Amino acid sequence: MKNILVVGSINMDMVITVDRVPRMGETLSGGDFMTVPGGKGSNQALCMARLGGTVKMLGAVGKDGFGAELTDYLKDSGVDTTPIKIIDKNTGVALITVCNGDNMIVLEKGANYMISPEDIRNNIELYKWADIVVMQLEIPWETVMESAKIAKENDCTVLLNPAPVENFKDEILPYIDIIVPNEHEGGIILDRESVTKDEAKELVTEFKKKGVEAVVTLGGDGCVYYYNGEVKHCPAIKTKVIDTTAAGDSFIGGMCVAICEGKKLPEAIKFATKVASIVVSRKGAGTSIPTRDEINNGEQK
Ligand code: RIB
Repeated sequence: MKNILVVGSINMDMVITVDRVPRMGETLSGGDFMTVPGGKGSNQALCMARLGGTVKMLGAVGKDGFGAELTDYLKDSGVDTTPIKIIDKNTGVALITVCNGDNMIVLEKGANYMISPEDIRNNIELYKWADIVVMQLEIPWETVMESAKIAKENDCTVLLNPAPVENFKDEILPYIDIIVPNEHEGGIILDRESVTKDEAKELVTEFKKKGVEAVVTLGGDGCVYYYNGEVKHCPAIKTKVIDTTAAGDSFIGGMCVAICEGKKLPEAIKFATKVASIVVSRKGAGTSIPTRDEINNGEQK
């Protein structure tokens, strides 16, 4: 098994379910309040570990109760949390509203925004250890850039999930091997609207021309990717959608573990699709991510 380094965010998600989206200025009653371990980096790392990957996580939490709880949660899932910094700032928080299975997220990055390029340089040994480095954009851009450059210098495969996409700059493309945006993120990166399957197919071809393998996720429409000179489509597995939070994170987690196990991209994507289909059938981020045994047993609930 190859070694995976996740460099990214750790958040406490505060979730309320509503029947409809509130209007500006309106107070709307919701229900099912939960505090759930989340953060794109953390969700991806713990997914990889639960699926049997060898994972270290580099990130930051605050000295508050959330920081300790989230670090323990990752550790209990099998992630090596030794590189996580504890700093004098609040732990990242995400306010999530779930409506008809879909979600809206407002983020306060807190400690996540204190991981600096210097922290990356101080952890070169992690990049020497890693075979694959996985990042998202909930930490500072300069830190992501430094991480990608150092990962490349150390011959790692670099995977970027460009979310939230508002923080993306294409100067990073020469340093990454695989990009996994959803259709909206992919469209914004290439300066175009992209919401249909056909347009997403054009996106993966454009990324390929720029030297990057792209897997564009399309929610209930599955995903498209480029493989062996052709654009391919992998359908989603039909399931009852309860909450899509962490669907993209778990797709990346599953794909990454399968690649580390030596599976070819189409097989890795099939596996990732299975993982994500379980995640959307459950509530929350970290709480919805299955173990390898659950995947093998085909469990949905
Ligand atoms: O991708 C889902 C995650 O985005 C949530 O867990 C939330 O913390 C935000 O970072």
